Amino acid sequence: MKIKGLLFDLDGVIVTTEHNHFVAWKRTADELGVPFTERENEQLKGISRIDSLKMILKMGNVFISESEFDALLKSKNDFYLESIQELNQSDLLPGVMDLLLKAKAQGIKLGVGSSSKNANFILGLLGIADFFDVVVDGNGVSDPKPHPEVFLNGAKAFGFLPAECIVFEDATSGIQAAKTGGFLDIGVGNPEVKEIATNYYNDLTEFRLEDYA
Ligand code: BG6
Ligand code: MG
Repeated sequence: MKIKGLLFDLDGVIVTTEHNHFVAWKRTADELGVPFTERENEQLKGISRIDSLKMILKMGNVFISESEFDALLKSKNDFYLESIQELNQSDLLPGVMDLLLKAKAQGIKLGVGSSSKNANFILGLLGIADFFDVVVDGNGVSDPKPHPEVFLNGAKAFGFLPAECIVFEDATSGIQAAKTGGFLDIGVGNPEVKEIATNYYNDLTEFRLEDYA
């Protein structure tokens, strides 16, 4: 089927911020005494802030009160936001800008489907918000990834069937969400998703729009 819409995950697909999330969660895990490396972080990619903290607690078999839970969520986000203060267009991942320009020129609809509650803020820092016909973020869904709601809402806003849209993802949870929703899932920038993604590219410079639309 001819592709009419592109839905992009944000952290790790459009911009380098997945690393900032890792550094911030590592700090939280250290505070809790939970061993946490890139390997453990792989399970957190793409999932919501709340689910990420739950996952770290589960990894370490640690139990904390509701108020401690809320305080950790806040301090993680404060630290994360501090770390991305200087974010700008030079932090876009390779091939992103060219693909946005090309797709826009061809009349293909563009959207963001992210678990992050900071998505609109980040798009503002990057100066690319105007490219997108729809931004569905962590504030607008009741079931976060790996549930497909975030991408289904995007396709609905486009007025297209999921099968008419590509989802670009760097996280296992996001690839699962795309597949469950009936989208063409494309893995990008994370070898960990190579096996499960329908198609995989090291970065978006390798993606050829003319092969799909
Ligand atoms: C996802 C990231 O996009 O958003 C996760 O892959 C992150 O690492 C999640 O935890 C939630 O982000 P935020 O900005 O709302 O804490
Ligand atoms: Mg991601």
